[in-house]
Amino acid sequence: MEMTRSHFLALLLGVSISALAILLLFIFCTRRKRSSTESEQHDVESHGFSSETGELVTFRGGEDLTICDILDAPGEVIGKSSYGTLYKASLQRSGKVRVLRFLRPVCTVRSDAKEFNGVIETLGLVRHENLVPLLGFYGGNRGEKLMVHPFFSSGNLSDFIASGDDESVKWINILRITIGITEALDYLHNRMQKPIVHGNLKSKNVLLNSSFEPRVSDYGLHLLLNQTAGQEILDISAAEGYKAPELIKVKEVSKESDVYSLGVIMLELVTGKEPINKDPTGDDEFYLPDFVRNAVIDHKLSDLYRPEILKSSGDMSEERVLKYFQLALSCCSPSPSLRPNIKQVLRKLEDIKKC
Ligand SMILES: *[C@@H]1O[C@H](CO)[C@@H](O)[C@H](O)[C@H]1NC(C)=O
Ligand SMILES: *[C@@H]1O[C@H](CO)[C@@H](O)[C@H](O)[C@H]1NC(C)=O
Ligand SMILES: *[C@@H]1O[C@H](CO)[C@@H](O)[C@H](O)[C@H]1NC(C)=O
Repeated sequence: MEMTRSHFLALLLGVSISALAILLLFIFCTRRKRSSTESEQHDVESHGFSSETGELVTFRGGEDLTICDILDAPGEVIGKSSYGTLYKASLQRSGKVRVLRFLRPVCTVRSDAKEFNGVIETLGLVRHENLVPLLGFYGGNRGEKLMVHPFFSSGNLSDFIASGDDESVKWINILRITIGITEALDYLHNRMQKPIVHGNLKSKNVLLNSSFEPRVSDYGLHLLLNQTAGQEILDISAAEGYKAPELIKVKEVSKESDVYSLGVIMLELVTGKEPINKDPTGDDEFYLPDFVRNAVIDHKLSDLYRPEILKSSGDMSEERVLKYFQLALSCCSPSPSLRPNIKQVLRKLEDIKKC
């Protein structure tokens, strides 16, 4: 009984997923039987978690969060990585659905708590329609760290591109998504008092709403993780084809390396291909920016983009697609100093939209 009291706590304690599912079912049943004889508050305090031992910071839109809410929310694992776990959780009191990002204590920077809190404060200030906001942050007394975000249900850009459905080849959607991601980066790079480098931009970290407006997530996490954990993110980014070639250490991520990753996403959007072919057959090892660059040299660019794009609107011309390719390739320039900055990308995109 003791153990079942605080749902989310079970997650923090590292209960395995299958055991958790059974546990949650059990909790659900015992809860209903227990009805209202015990107070909700009791659940948390009985585990030594109270506002005295843990700390909750809330940001705009998260003012109604409480520690009980977070620790007591039944959660479902929606993502896992070496440094933490993402849960979709329904808050009991408000009924709101939230994403809880649990960071493993060993993976976060520990040397300087003040610096860590400073980063959280900065991330909490981010408010832009193309960025997933941070609503709250909970730090437990044993180093547990939880970031609270809204939940967006419509899936991610990687899946959207792979689906190849009618919407994913519409020029208007491709441009809207590209401009939205670019606006998000412009905000992080140029409109924050303390600029933020995203550090891990990829199509899986871009969520879409039902009108195909993008929301970028996972920005600035490299600032919260220790060197080993940060390096793992960079290695994955390299394996997935988003890492700018000049990057060796995660500390070196920059506005320029964000622009590189944006260029890769642009190429994904028009070609419908993944950045890297993970199981190349024979000798056709495949890296999207190189592949496209070679196609330009061979004058075979027309074979590369999804042909449906041209049919997707009445006044669509190949010229626009070629300009888009050109911009994407300049973002993917091997030399960081030759890449456009994000403002220049935005201006070019507006031109392409008009032409
Ligand atoms: C950093 O994180 C890794 C997990 O990625 C962990 O194994 C390691 O102990 C941490 N290193 C330090 C110095 O805290
Ligand atoms: C999608 O997001 C945009 C920008 O945040 C917003 O204006 C629009 O209303 C959203 N659409 C839906 C259907 O939620
Ligand atoms: C996002 O993309 C990945 C593909 O790697 C997929 O496994 C995952 O289920 C997607 N997430 C959502 C919420 O659609």
